[in-house]
Amino acid sequence: MKTKVGFPVQIGAAFPKGFLWGTATASYQIEGSWKADGKGESIWDRFSHTAGRVDRGETGDVACDHYKRWRTDLDLMKSMNLDAYRFSLSWPRILPEGRGLVNRKGLDFYDRLVDGLLARGIEPLVTLYHWDLPQALQDAGGWLNRRTADWFAEYAAVCSKRLGDRVRFWATINEPNVVAYCGYQGGFHAPGVKDKATAAQVFHHLMLAHGRAVRALRATNKNLKIGICPNIMMLYPSRAGHPGDLQAVRERRDSERWYLDPFLLGKYPTRQLRIAEREGWAPLGKPGDLKEAAAPLDFLGINYYFSLFLKRFPNGRTMEPKLAPQSTDLGWPFWPDGLRDMLLWVTQTYGRRPLVITENGAAYFREKPSAAGRVRDGNRVKYLALHVKALREALDRGVNLRGYCCWSFMDNFEWSSGYQPRFGLVHVDFKTQKRTVKDSGRFYAQVAASNGAQLREPE
Ligand code: FCB
Repeated sequence: MKTKVGFPVQIGAAFPKGFLWGTATASYQIEGSWKADGKGESIWDRFSHTAGRVDRGETGDVACDHYKRWRTDLDLMKSMNLDAYRFSLSWPRILPEGRGLVNRKGLDFYDRLVDGLLARGIEPLVTLYHWDLPQALQDAGGWLNRRTADWFAEYAAVCSKRLGDRVRFWATINEPNVVAYCGYQGGFHAPGVKDKATAAQVFHHLMLAHGRAVRALRATNKNLKIGICPNIMMLYPSRAGHPGDLQAVRERRDSERWYLDPFLLGKYPTRQLRIAEREGWAPLGKPGDLKEAAAPLDFLGINYYFSLFLKRFPNGRTMEPKLAPQSTDLGWPFWPDGLRDMLLWVTQTYGRRPLVITENGAAYFREKPSAAGRVRDGNRVKYLALHVKALREALDRGVNLRGYCCWSFMDNFEWSSGYQPRFGLVHVDFKTQKRTVKDSGRFYAQVAASNGAQLREPE
């Protein structure tokens, strides 16, 4: 088919029966009500309330006000034919101190949300940790404290005891690589630490926390489908076949695998571990930690946004030139083939596991409904169409793909970038909280209704 934005996208066949078409969000990014009903403070409350941390001083205090507007948000979701909804639980809403006393009102909120989803025929996918660590635990050392792994497992058990009779899909941690890197090495996410060794130690504890939470979830309910959601990019040499560029890709791949091998293979990549030891940032752990981290999973969730092209110069430096013909407004390269290639790479490297794309989407800055209530986000329609096509190609080449969640259901608080980047299929006017389904939302509604067979641009 040829669309107005000028891209041919042919799919033809529907996706496998039972394929889940969903969207994704996260508690801090949408809920607001940051101290309602006994909720405790999170590290993102603290971080966003600290001057200079978030663009324009924005916070998630109100965000999309989803804590109060969830019913109408779910109605909208249903009107968009969505099969699934991935959302995260706010740990400090449920356990204000991170451990110990349960805040019944916090759990009740998620209980109602789950019932609301099921009543509308939408499958809930729960993420236990999407970055809003209780500040009380941060005060006790946060992820740098090994005991946080046990507190995470206790929290997981509290949640599955209450929701496990209705929620089938559970993901432990969203993007452990990003938690460690952006929160503890780059310092631009909460809690804003900038230290490589700390980041590696935090990552090690996240792995332990993941493994222990998997065990705790299984102990409370044998029927749960459990996974984790790393962010995975595809890597390419800038110049096909160029030995230096290929070497740069191999090295970068090793450092990316640092964040995958522990829970998928139960070890750190050997070459990278040697480098860490030499440079003095290897994490401290106990024998058996990574065996715990590699607890068997039922699915692997993957967040994919873009790919990198690497170029090695004779002086040994590596650059990431922008070879993708386009990028989104955050400057992220627009590279749909990378989604297919990444899925093939994961399957070749880690075996033919059940995979779910748990996030994928595009940010644009200047989107506004017209007087007629239309948001013409043709760029995002194109982004989605080409990424759905990439999924089809991956399936045709044997990848065991079970579902796709677009990031995001609605515009929301994009961490340290605040509200400027809009990722939603639904536009949110943050002054009035009015929701408007964008063209991409209408497009995606057809994709979901036709199980991926129909990629027609809205008239
Ligand atoms: C991912 C995060 C998600 C969202 C998207 C754009 O890294 O998991 O919360 O911010 O990026």
